[in-house]
Amino acid sequence: MLTATTDHGVSPRIARPASSPGASRNWWRDAVVYQVYVRSFLDSTGDGIGDLAGVRAGLPYLRKLGVDGIWLSPVYPSPQHDHGYDVADYLDVDPVYGDLEEFDRLVAAAHRLGLKVVLDIVPNHCSSEHPWFRAALAEGPGGPHRALFHFADGRGAEGEMPPNNWRAMFGGPAWSRVTEPGGEPGQWYLHLFTPEQPDLNWRDPAVAEHFDHVLRFWLDRGVDGFRVDVAAGLFKHPELPDSPDPEADERTRDSVNPLAWNQPEVHGVWRRWRALCDEYAERDGLDRLLVGEVSVPTAREHAKYVRPDELHQAFFFHLLGAPWDADTFRGVIEEALRDIAGTGSTVTWVLNNHDQVRTVTRYAGEGSGPGNPGLGAARARAAALLMLALPGAAYVYQGEELGLPEVVDLPDEVLTDPIFRRTGSRSRIRDGCRVPLPWSGHASPFGFSSGAEEARPWLPQPEWFAEHATDRALADTRSFWHLYRDGLQLRRDLPQLGEGTLRWLEAPPEVLAFERGDGLVCAVNFGTSPVPAPVPGTPLLASGQCPDGTLPGSTAAWWVTDPAPR
Ligand code: NOJ
Repeated sequence: MLTATTDHGVSPRIARPASSPGASRNWWRDAVVYQVYVRSFLDSTGDGIGDLAGVRAGLPYLRKLGVDGIWLSPVYPSPQHDHGYDVADYLDVDPVYGDLEEFDRLVAAAHRLGLKVVLDIVPNHCSSEHPWFRAALAEGPGGPHRALFHFADGRGAEGEMPPNNWRAMFGGPAWSRVTEPGGEPGQWYLHLFTPEQPDLNWRDPAVAEHFDHVLRFWLDRGVDGFRVDVAAGLFKHPELPDSPDPEADERTRDSVNPLAWNQPEVHGVWRRWRALCDEYAERDGLDRLLVGEVSVPTAREHAKYVRPDELHQAFFFHLLGAPWDADTFRGVIEEALRDIAGTGSTVTWVLNNHDQVRTVTRYAGEGSGPGNPGLGAARARAAALLMLALPGAAYVYQGEELGLPEVVDLPDEVLTDPIFRRTGSRSRIRDGCRVPLPWSGHASPFGFSSGAEEARPWLPQPEWFAEHATDRALADTRSFWHLYRDGLQLRRDLPQLGEGTLRWLEAPPEVLAFERGDGLVCAVNFGTSPVPAPVPGTPLLASGQCPDGTLPGSTAAWWVTDPAPR
């Protein structure tokens, strides 16, 4: 039975020698990748903005945590209207983050530690400062660079109305009108996000050719793969007709406009990119990963993106979007395992990222306020153990391993998210999960900036960040950090975790319990009252204290079942 534990100690009885990370061709199938939001990870220059040298300095910390690799948010030259998701040059590094030599040093250092490096790539749109777009503006209608974007004449007598009714994801119309070289109001161009992010026209072969070159450029520098931004975008309905429900597109701020997203032609791009990556894999036997940001309504649609000759993986956001409720969690897990694992790929689980309210706050109660932080933290710990026990790969967003809550009270004047700028609404803005990490000490910059006292992080850190600093987390065996570290260690050591089978076990209504492989059980109590442990066994790890034989509310535990008597 589950026994009393003061913290989540690991039973030495089951430990096996750790496997070396990244050794196999299919390294990505059950990898745990740590998302580094570079501007907020660690600042080596004292300008208040994280950078690549800072990431390199933090690698030993990540190795100790036990992840298999890192995903770097975009570091390309960019005017930073959407913090790098507006790329002005796909073949360089923004000076604010370093340069190509520093990038190479980072990749080499990561590889020495056995960590993979996955680069963010942004093919749906570039920056309005990209040379192609500047040339398109300078040329005027009919110019060859206009064909690389979606330029169209407006509707109305003077072309004063946008070509269709599409709404942009971050508010306002999806079209902006340009001033032509002669000074007169002219054509309109399409941008699914902000006006500073013009959408590329993937029907023009030059776009695909350019991205082949970009992929090879970074693969030749040694990256292990790409996280593909907006992977269900890229192609739009060829006639750009009106959306049937533009209000819904805007309300949900999700990729629901069926004419702008998830067009069948997009799969041809993923086949092309997969073939290119496979070329590299065939040379040295190591897969180069393509993991897509695929926001589509159903797991069945999602599965199409991870067919054997397309993306290797795609983030499964339905778990992230699920409210704290046993039935909902079970439903999305079953859906993913049925539809995605059936393709031969593995499910890519995610609970946090740089676009979402952090789990500690999301699970703390209703609304956008702090809710009940203790409850949110307990549930976030339990969710982490659940995610790490599921078959497939998992992504951990920086600060998740520290149990960082969302910063919900940033003043308006410091907000940088274009969603706030374009809508004036604080709902679903993303600055609160991007506040620079606390590393040490009792006052901002909490070791984030080498510039010490006078260095101001680009977003202000609240005083309470001190409680979550990495130095404290490492020193406290009850911290989130130790829970993640122990869970990751067990994933390496236990053959049942990672890929493999999942069998649901009988459990009370508010409890999810499943067995992985032979004899490894994970149970999560979504309710508030303790329940008896579903099966007898030896506890391995728990997200909270488990008094003898029980699983308290908002708690998850892993244990091995006792062998059947002979
Ligand atoms: C998804 C990225 O995660 C988000 O941060 C970005 O704003 C949009 N794509 C647009 O590139």
